[in-house]
Amino acid sequence: MIILIGNQKGGPGKSTIALLLANFLTQVKKHQVTLIDMDYQQSIAQMYSRAKILDSPPPYEVVAANLEQFEQIKPILSRNPDMIFLIDLPGKLDDDGLIPLFQNADLVLCPFAYSELSFDSTILFSVVLKKIKPDISLVFIPNRIKATVNYRTKSDVEHQLSQFGNITPAIPDRIDFQRITTVSTPINVQPLVIAVFSQIYADYIKR
Ligand SMILES: Nc1ncnc2c1ncn2[C@@H]1O[C@H](COP(=O)(O)OP(=O)(O)O)[C@@H](O)[C@H]1O
Ligand SMILES: [Mg+2]
Repeated sequence: MIILIGNQKGGPGKSTIALLLANFLTQVKKHQVTLIDMDYQQSIAQMYSRAKILDSPPPYEVVAANLEQFEQIKPILSRNPDMIFLIDLPGKLDDDGLIPLFQNADLVLCPFAYSELSFDSTILFSVVLKKIKPDISLVFIPNRIKATVNYRTKSDVEHQLSQFGNITPAIPDRIDFQRITTVSTPINVQPLVIAVFSQIYADYIKR
């Protein structure tokens, strides 16, 4: 199974969601996972090489790659039907290298924030994705939600996004999210995300 984590822009929490899902699938659901880091910052791949020095063996493998290498790795993906491949995408849309990834994905997760700027790039991402693969399962994850902010556009945003896919419960903005690693999710973050990943698991991953 191939799960992409993407949005048009950097910053909505793609790499964070990729790590949270990888940790959830390996630790809670005991699945085999490989995380493919295609973001140019390679933040997850760098974190993984540091962790590998300290912890052995790692709960899942992280592979650094770029969009162009997808055709090369594709045969490996189809040879491992039990493995869940999570691909952290770069925050861009103007690259034809995304087309084969969109075509081969089983599920796309799209983290976003309830701001106008984030909304436009989320809609653009969804339109392009659905144009390339109309029957793709697309799931929106509201992230970094601040309890003190009154999101006036919230219901409007949800109405628009629901035409493209499902929306999970929201993930709050908490400083502890900076402590998520390729080895574990901090214990106080786990209850904040369990509803999100249990829903995604039940609806799209569990066979
Ligand atoms: N729910 C959250 N609460 C607080 N900080 C968050 C949350 N989600 C992500 N972050 C932080 O926001 C920054 C951007 O997140 P990141 O996952 O790197 O975004 P992207 O991969 O989409 O560019 C990181 O510093 C990350 O730790
Ligand atoms: Mg990233």
